[in-house]
Amino acid sequence: MAHELSTDDLLPIGRVARRSGVPVSTVRYYDSLGLLPSVRSPGNTRLFPRHALRRIAFIQVSVRYGLSLAAVAELFADLPDDRPPSREAWRRISAAWADELARRQEVLTRMQDELTGCLGCGCLSQDRCVVVNSQDKLGEDGAGPRRVLPAAAAALGRN
Ligand code: FES
Repeated sequence: MAHELSTDDLLPIGRVARRSGVPVSTVRYYDSLGLLPSVRSPGNTRLFPRHALRRIAFIQVSVRYGLSLAAVAELFADLPDDRPPSREAWRRISAAWADELARRQEVLTRMQDELTGCLGCGCLSQDRCVVVNSQDKLGEDGAGPRRVLPAAAAALGRN
């Protein structure tokens, strides 16, 4: 059920920027990406509902922790523009955000596990180095220097 925003609920862009601590250009950019709810005044000024401040805070924290604005847009996709999101809506977003961070943590842990042996090793072995040949992908193509042979053949005109 939509409800009408009163003028008391609406803030001009300069006030949104001051209250949220980001430049006006940033508010404008977020708005251009559809991350913020906004309406036009009768004089064609862009106005933002107060609950846009919470979205900006969420965006700032998300970006600081490495989420892209596209990922934030996905999280915001189901939020209503015409009223403040419910506690349940923010809880869902928060849970999705936590899932994404857990996924990233898993990737970083795997990278750390795989690379720890390589840091300080430097052998770049085709047989065992995950940096050079993760999961022995080159071995699936056959024996020999798989990266060198095509280049050498091309140089000799034997494609
Ligand atoms: S550099 Fe030696 S195993 Fe990766």
